Amino acid sequence: MESIPVLDMKKGQLYYRPLRPGDFAELKAAHLDLFPIDYDDGFFSKAVNGMARIFSLAAFDITGGCEKLVGFVTARLVPMSEVEKTDRQHMGVFASSWNSVSAVYILTLGVVPGYQKQGIATTLIGQLEQHSANLGARVMFFHVITYNEPAVRLYTRCHFRCVANLRNFYCIKSGRQPDPRRTRWDGFLFMKWVPMELKVSTGPVMEAIAPIRNAWGTCWPFACRQLFVSPGPPPESSIEPQLQLSQTTTSIFRRLFGRGRA
Ligand code: ACO
Repeated sequence: MESIPVLDMKKGQLYYRPLRPGDFAELKAAHLDLFPIDYDDGFFSKAVNGMARIFSLAAFDITGGCEKLVGFVTARLVPMSEVEKTDRQHMGVFASSWNSVSAVYILTLGVVPGYQKQGIATTLIGQLEQHSANLGARVMFFHVITYNEPAVRLYTRCHFRCVANLRNFYCIKSGRQPDPRRTRWDGFLFMKWVPMELKVSTGPVMEAIAPIRNAWGTCWPFACRQLFVSPGPPPESSIEPQLQLSQTTTSIFRRLFGRGRA
């Protein structure tokens, strides 16, 4: 399973790198704190080990010399043939000609309290988008519970488009939902086309095989679906914040791809 390469970026106090096995406990604690949905240990294990085509990027506060997990995004590369039919219909990619096209499904994105509203999630999404392009994915998509206004604002600002409101998509019994007696919640389906101009050429050989890679997707069709995010049954229907973080984003792009994001 591919991972976003280690980002040796140590400007200021934030450091971005993929999750590692040692992050298991912190990742689990952050999910418990940030999400109303209960995720099982299998998910965290796959996320920190980069298994089942899950890849990740996390932000760490390295003040004082030790790492503290402050933000993360986990996502999964899926061939369109494995995406739920309903989602494909809503995204307008139902035709069988889309079957071999790769998509990136965002599993979880979170920034711990005290570090929010400093652009960390925006940076994580930007990096995810670049990596999705490098993987040859054409579409990014995810589900979000409809009451999650900060997330909806964030993704809208990042040019994701809401294409469906899925009635009773989520079945939540953790007690951490706004009304603990209510278990059924609607979910939005958001999507975004991966900008092809983000795709980085990696040399003549990769250029030559690009059509084949694109046709097959970047991964062989292992038998797995969006198993680790199914929150319920199938749907019925700082730091010196802004300046430093934008420098951070630019720096990451330069280190990784030898150019800025323009
Ligand atoms: N100074 C002031 N404001 C800033 C700065 C700054 N330097 N940088 C960014 N902001 C603002 C942004 O403009 C944005 O404003 P808006 O809400 O009016 O659009 C806001 O801060 C948030 O942007 P970010 O800082 O990039 O996002 P943040 O790091 O705060 O993370 C998130 C947002 C992930 C939604 C966070 O609130 C969170 O973890 N929530 C709980 C978990 C969650 O809901 N995750 C998403 C679920 S959906 C999914 O996982 C697929």
